[in-house]
Amino acid sequence: MGNYKIMVLAGDGIGPEVTAEGVRALEAIGKKFGHTFEFQEDLVGGIAIDTFGTSLKPETLDAAKQSDAVLWGAVGGPKWDDPRATDRPERGLLAFRAGLGLWANIRPVKVDEALIDNTTIKPETLRGVDIIVIRELTGGVYFGKPQGPSTTADGKRAAVDSMYYTEDEVARVAHLGFQLARKRKGKVTHVDKANVLASSRLWREVVTEVRPEYADVEFENVLVDAMAMHLIRRPATFDVIITENLFGDILTDEASMLAGSLGMLPSASLGALRPDGTGLGMYEPIHGSAPDIAGKGIANPIGMLRCTALLLRYSLGLETEAQALEAAVTKAIDDGMRTADITKPGEQALSTREMAEAILDRLG
Ligand code: IPM
Ligand code: MG
Repeated sequence: MGNYKIMVLAGDGIGPEVTAEGVRALEAIGKKFGHTFEFQEDLVGGIAIDTFGTSLKPETLDAAKQSDAVLWGAVGGPKWDDPRATDRPERGLLAFRAGLGLWANIRPVKVDEALIDNTTIKPETLRGVDIIVIRELTGGVYFGKPQGPSTTADGKRAAVDSMYYTEDEVARVAHLGFQLARKRKGKVTHVDKANVLASSRLWREVVTEVRPEYADVEFENVLVDAMAMHLIRRPATFDVIITENLFGDILTDEASMLAGSLGMLPSASLGALRPDGTGLGMYEPIHGSAPDIAGKGIANPIGMLRCTALLLRYSLGLETEAQALEAAVTKAIDDGMRTADITKPGEQALSTREMAEAILDRLG
């Protein structure tokens, strides 16, 4: 029976609404399985800019390092979108990922059979989709230098971003991908743009060097433009996808459409792992702050509840508890429970709280 310290950083937009349900889910799991959770809250993102004048206080990062895991809601919104602003909510998010050394972003994409008619893609294309995207999270064009505005020799405005990678940054993602594939369907797809980008050619070289250690795993390289196409044409043929930061950002939004709604998908960001495969991690739904629906209590809490399950699995090593929560989510969906983003015409939509309650009622 464990006692765990969880940092709760709800952020902006619908972040606080969904994070509250994540906390309730952990409390319900604690009650059922005899664990206690100590929650520590703080502000990040736009609300932290408004309150403290910075999107991420150093003390927030320090406190997170002392915790067992971090639940993160979402950051950003139109209020903080001025392109000339010196601080932005997203800067706080990137500084947090980098500050905790969370280089691996794991984004599972699974299609719920009961929602197979809810998407814009044909059901026969979606059947059997079960993908994990591992997105590199602390390198590439998000962090490479030089970065920023500049000027041309004749005084015109210009700007630069640099896609920079080292071999070690690539190798650790490759190892994680192959190891994960071994526990799943046994296939790794590496996505790059090696026909144009030098950083992609480094990725391809290093991934190819790592590959022989995992000769039992099926492996392919796919160019990112082709991958954008394959993901909606034959998504069920993929298992583990490994890719650099920006490609992973874009492809996972696309992949979320396979699951019917961006609101369904969780992500886990991990860094150094202990020998048992667990470690300090940050858990954030991929939906973002959704300012258009913020404060209405209609956001889908499933992305966040699935984050909570990943937190139990990857940071606390509580696999039984993680599966119990995931099963409750599936059961609620199978029983027809829906938030507005996943209803079909004529179906009743539950609020964020009602949906979370419907799920937690099914914990058994
Ligand atoms: C994501 C988001 C972030 C990213 C934004 C909010 C900075 O899109 O987590 O996918 O680009 O990493
Ligand atoms: Mg994104």
